[in-house]
Amino acid sequence: MPVITVPEAFNEDELYIDLQWTFGHPIYLKCEGFNFAGSVKLKAATEMVDAAERDGILTAGSVLIESSSGNLGVALSMLAASRGYHFLCVTDPRCNLSTRRAIEALGNEVHVVTEPSATGGFLGARIDHVRALCASDSRYVWLDQYRNPNNWRAHHRRTAPAIATAFPHLDVLFVGAGTTGTLMGCARYFKEWHRPVRVVAVDSVGSVTFGGPAGQRMLPGLGTSVRPPILDESYVDDVILVEEADAVRACHRLARNGFLFGGSTGTVVSGATAWLDQHDAGEVTAVAIAPDLGERYLDTIYHTNWLHDIYGDQVLGPDQQPPEQPDLAQPSATFQGN
Ligand SMILES: Cc1ncc(COP(=O)(O)O)c(C=O)c1O
Repeated sequence: MPVITVPEAFNEDELYIDLQWTFGHPIYLKCEGFNFAGSVKLKAATEMVDAAERDGILTAGSVLIESSSGNLGVALSMLAASRGYHFLCVTDPRCNLSTRRAIEALGNEVHVVTEPSATGGFLGARIDHVRALCASDSRYVWLDQYRNPNNWRAHHRRTAPAIATAFPHLDVLFVGAGTTGTLMGCARYFKEWHRPVRVVAVDSVGSVTFGGPAGQRMLPGLGTSVRPPILDESYVDDVILVEEADAVRACHRLARNGFLFGGSTGTVVSGATAWLDQHDAGEVTAVAIAPDLGERYLDTIYHTNWLHDIYGDQVLGPDQQPPEQPDLAQPSATFQGN
């Protein structure tokens, strides 16, 4: 029975979903959303804050500041509340409202940049804003998840060894790429491991991370408009790019089986399925990482109007359409119960 005194002390690291019967491939989906920050970013946040405290960079009176599409923001907000710091999250309009509310509920502040920068998109604009605030007040401490090696070290120390223990015969690992912290930590670990593992990066079409052209992306978490400095492609065996509409369809397929996940999980599952189709993978043991859960996306990925506005009316197949909603204002003539 786990009993904790600080929220960061709890993280479920041993839960996998077998996707064989839903997606027709032997993919074990590692669920990283079961902690008090609700995502894989708890590990990166804890590792970066611990290191900054050890190095004397973060001290009483410091104000943590970070550019985040949401999940790192929630994790840092939780840690700041737990350890007595203040935190300012700089994000952009794609950040979910519920994520922003969570950061504020934890006692911290959110700045939303409204205009992308000419060369670096929204990410460039967020980083410009962070830099300007840091230059204005020495109490700000910017951990910089895009450059901080403790981001990938968290996954080298925790995520990858947990997978290696659970799957000693692992053949392929699918990891979504945002800052590439999860990807680089796992890829570095498995390159040093006792047997070869193919590490496949999954990214969104429109992301520049692996050299593709920039394009519109609406799902937070994966993809970048500025190449992440911690990425070292020599550790990555393959890259697969996924259209957001395919990611959304994978999310709805999971949801129709009772598993409500975020958009990056749909992206990773869609990419993993496509890769296994292309590689005639047969009996491989494959793991994919699900970075968070679906509740934060009820107003976007799981909202019909949003989906149709962004991806068109036909984005979901006929079997995935949400059921007709009864008009609750008009009591049903046949309803007799209480
Ligand atoms: C929902 C979600 N998925 C995936 C990622 C990507 O993780 P990483 O930054 O380790 O590449 C993030 C990062 O914020 C995320 O929030």
